[in-house]
Amino acid sequence: MNRLITSWGAYDLTRFPEDPRDPLRAWSAADAYLLRHLAGEDGGPAGSEEAAKPVDLSGTVAVVGDRWGALTTALAEHGPTLITDSFLAREATRANVARAGFAPDAVRLSTTGDAPPSRIDVLLVRVPKSLALLEDQLHRLAPALHAGTVVVGTGMVTEIHTSTLDLFERIIGPTRTSLARQKARLIFSTPDPEREAGPSPWPRSYVLDDDSGAGAGLTAVNHAGVFCAERLDIGTRFLLQHLPTGRGAEGRGAHIVDLGCGNGVLGTAAAVADPEATVTFIDESYPAVASAEATFRANAAETTRARFIAGDALSAVPAGSVDLVLNNPPFHSHQATSGATAWRMFAGARAALRPGGELWVVGNRHLDYHVKLRKLFGNSQVVAGNPKFVVLRAVKRDR
Ligand SMILES: C[S@@+](CC[C@H](N)C(=O)[O-])C[C@H]1O[C@@H](n2cnc3c(N)ncnc32)[C@H](O)[C@@H]1O
Repeated sequence: MNRLITSWGAYDLTRFPEDPRDPLRAWSAADAYLLRHLAGEDGGPAGSEEAAKPVDLSGTVAVVGDRWGALTTALAEHGPTLITDSFLAREATRANVARAGFAPDAVRLSTTGDAPPSRIDVLLVRVPKSLALLEDQLHRLAPALHAGTVVVGTGMVTEIHTSTLDLFERIIGPTRTSLARQKARLIFSTPDPEREAGPSPWPRSYVLDDDSGAGAGLTAVNHAGVFCAERLDIGTRFLLQHLPTGRGAEGRGAHIVDLGCGNGVLGTAAAVADPEATVTFIDESYPAVASAEATFRANAAETTRARFIAGDALSAVPAGSVDLVLNNPPFHSHQATSGATAWRMFAGARAALRPGGELWVVGNRHLDYHVKLRKLFGNSQVVAGNPKFVVLRAVKRDR
């Protein structure tokens, strides 16, 4: 737990899932800078003579990309709409808003796939790591802005590039930045109603080449911000080249989980290889789940059953119900917590598998996933390896 202090209140904030051992804060200097700016305490455009003054928050306030809900919680009395691509961010926001004493309906929790508010008076953008996601979001939100909409972006200096500012300039209107404070910077855009930025260029598709094993020839559909939205990941390719088939218990199709599904190529390849299977696609990213569904629909037989879940690891899957889990764990996103996420995924897989069921994992050799698998499953076998990657298999031996 850690406390964000503003001039109007203090907020105890946590990430999701809550882990008391997690040393990482649920807010950043970028969040604090934006809140000080909204209160009129700091941060006008660099070089401008304009005195800082409080921003009028009485209209419709939309907060895009709030990482763990710090902005939404601190602004909850103004009834903001959160727009997020992340299930974990949404759940963190829900918990933080409740902890701050607000009713659940004090804020609106929406996803990047939902229709945005039709008119936005204050648009606050926590700059995402993915430029594509920012591009898509600005395109989707631009029609809701008017000449008087206050648009303020925020991010750490390392997250704001010329290409970031170009997107604001091209899609919203004239754009300036603030001075840097505690390695954070603000972005100010003035909506230009004459600007015709057109529709978002997302989603985009690509076809997997002949060297993609069980995935060869599949069309991968990618919404903005999804892992490897432009081309197949080399680890995913390696797992596709060694994809297991036919894991159902006697007399029924297998229940396969594509865990951390991204654009869903692993689960879709498994579904195409075994049309009798039921495939559950899970990701904490809403655009990933939407991509997986589109990829599945573009390639799999109409009769193959599938479910699409935005959630944390396997928490939504009944224990003992799964024959095979396919997993390429996250290693870039939320970097410091990715080891913990892999552990949660493997432990969740163990609980979700039936006895005799299998978890197949692809990972960079140096990540030593076999150590975690041995601890949890008591076994781990190398199915295939090359200088960079290993495909590992762990079998659930008992209940
Ligand atoms: C390395 S990517 C793999 C994507 C896809 N399976 C592939 O191979 O192209 C890892 C995926 O895990 C997802 N992820 C991260 N944390 C998660 C969590 N707690 N629960 C479910 N999915 C998560 C990420 O959004 C990302 O799509």
